Amino acid sequence: MKTRIAVLVSGGGTNLQALIDARDRGELPHGELALVVSNNADAFAIERARKAGIPVALCLREKGAPRADFEARLLDILSENRIDMIVLAGFMAILSSDFVARYPERIINIHPSLIPSFCGEGFYGLRVHQAALDYGVKVTGATVHYVNEIPDGGRIIAQKAVDIQPDDTPETLQRRVMEQAEWILLPRATEEVARKINSDLSS
Ligand code: GAR
Repeated sequence: MKTRIAVLVSGGGTNLQALIDARDRGELPHGELALVVSNNADAFAIERARKAGIPVALCLREKGAPRADFEARLLDILSENRIDMIVLAGFMAILSSDFVARYPERIINIHPSLIPSFCGEGFYGLRVHQAALDYGVKVTGATVHYVNEIPDGGRIIAQKAVDIQPDDTPETLQRRVMEQAEWILLPRATEEVARKINSDLSS
């Protein structure tokens, strides 16, 4: 039995694509990409999932609607699909401590900086790279970590450093961090955690 993985997305889905490509190369032997959940109906990640034959569920939060309702629906979707592990791959919403407590060491996230720099609430997507450039650091990178009740505060699983070039813009830096760090780290960490969950479930 493989660990059944749900990948939660909000946007372009290049990290989802890295997981799909790793799966297709046989590099995810302990995990099954069982479901993609998007909180954005227009996310290109949905196309990528469909093309790869992965079921997609939309879980939208109406403006002003309580987070608890959104999370209750998300929990229903995950349990209907017998999900063991959650990968946040460009998922632009913060999950409550009640939610994350239901999946201890079962949720991982990719963040585009070397945590504890440039992370926490308000640091997502291009903003993270803008902050690194504004600060003037010469090295940044990406981090995969467990998700707990503190935004970007869970135990670190893997990190990779990436050099900043003098002429970088947030966009060029984002692309380099993805290519040199995120798309390598996330599939590896996903396999590592899926293997661990798999052995916990079968013991
Ligand atoms: C990625 O760079 C990911 O690390 C980041 O958003 C981008 C999503 O791209 N996530 C965060 O900033 C979370 N705090 P993708 O949709 O192409 O994978």
